Amino acid sequence: MRVLIIGGTRFIGRHIASTLIRTGHSVCLFHRGSTPLEGLDGVSEILGEKENLPSYRERFRDFHPEVIIDCIGYTETDGRRLIETFAGWIPRLIFLSSCDVYRAHAVLHRATDDPVQATPLTEESPLRTNVYPYRKYASGPEDWRYDYDKIPVERMLLAQPGLNTTVFRLPAVHGPWDYQLRVWEHLRKMEPGRKVILLPEAFSNWFWGRGYVENIAAAIGHFLSKKPASSGVFNLSDPVALSQKEWVEQIAAIAGWTGEIMIVPDEQLPDPLRPPYNFVQNWTIDASRFREMAGFSQPFTLEESLERTIAWHRAHQLTISAEQVERWQQEDDAEHRWLARS
Ligand SMILES: NC(=O)c1ccc[n+]([C@@H]2O[C@H](COP(=O)([O-])OP(=O)(O)OC[C@H]3O[C@@H](n4cnc5c(N)ncnc54)[C@H](OP(=O)(O)O)[C@@H]3O)[C@@H](O)[C@H]2O)c1
Repeated sequence: MRVLIIGGTRFIGRHIASTLIRTGHSVCLFHRGSTPLEGLDGVSEILGEKENLPSYRERFRDFHPEVIIDCIGYTETDGRRLIETFAGWIPRLIFLSSCDVYRAHAVLHRATDDPVQATPLTEESPLRTNVYPYRKYASGPEDWRYDYDKIPVERMLLAQPGLNTTVFRLPAVHGPWDYQLRVWEHLRKMEPGRKVILLPEAFSNWFWGRGYVENIAAAIGHFLSKKPASSGVFNLSDPVALSQKEWVEQIAAIAGWTGEIMIVPDEQLPDPLRPPYNFVQNWTIDASRFREMAGFSQPFTLEESLERTIAWHRAHQLTISAEQVERWQQEDDAEHRWLARS
């Protein structure tokens, strides 16, 4: 199949591209050219800025795509550009959305007075009623978090005649190339000389739905091998969710770190060590609709996924933003002081 990926060189899109190439598909990536194609042999590319997506319509047509996979649709404007560019001539569109569309996200982020939502979240769970879920964290209108909201994008794509859209709502994804560092944020602390890692109690008991990136990519590859479905929405997630404590324990076991994971009542910890979220709200995901509809089972177990991710982190160095480095520095200093006092 001929697949055009909008994005596709950084993390999830990169794994989707590499899975599709490996399984015999023909893949073209649209991106700006700032992320290298390292490890993506066999793909072709069209370089451009997504703001100008419609102006590449003829270049896209020349590739004769049978399906588009959009990895960088964050705002209503992105949704409108997808429609303007592809509606009416493309047989199938896959849109990567997020489980942050569910109301549970607003409860977790203290953005609503709604009660704690039932979990695991299914595709029928209530959606957020607040808009722009990350605006309060944005530095200004140029920050991607300012206008980000996948709910209106999903709605407009699903409602658009001439676009046969499948929406995949993703959980917290981890694996090689994860620039959000969901394994590394714990692994980085598991040095041989370090004896203790602190976890705030509320956070340690919180369950977060996760997905290993190669399993997510395999699910999408598997979906393409099925007959075109009508428009629809599917959650993707690993079948078993862990609490944060269990997640850190798993990483430690596979990394061979034998120190103590110390659970501390939140009120005993200083601010930098207490995330501001409402951890009474778990954020776990039920992806059984997709598994049953598509007859999909994940190629990698949790253990295998962590082994692969840890091995990758030990062999590679990702660029870490100055903002992130500063946040970790503050946390490490606060943790050091707390341990020295107690
Ligand atoms: N990671 C998670 O846990 C998670 C959870 C839920 C949902 N999601 C969703 O999953 C999707 C995939 O994210 P990803 O970052 O892993 O995808 P990706 O496709 O691997 O990376 C982003 C791509 O977009 C290109 N790009 C960025 N800005 C661009 C622009 N202005 N114009 C043209 N190309 C641009 C980048 O290449 P260049 O830099 O070369 O342009 C890169 O190829 C996103 O929609 C995200 O919201 C992720």
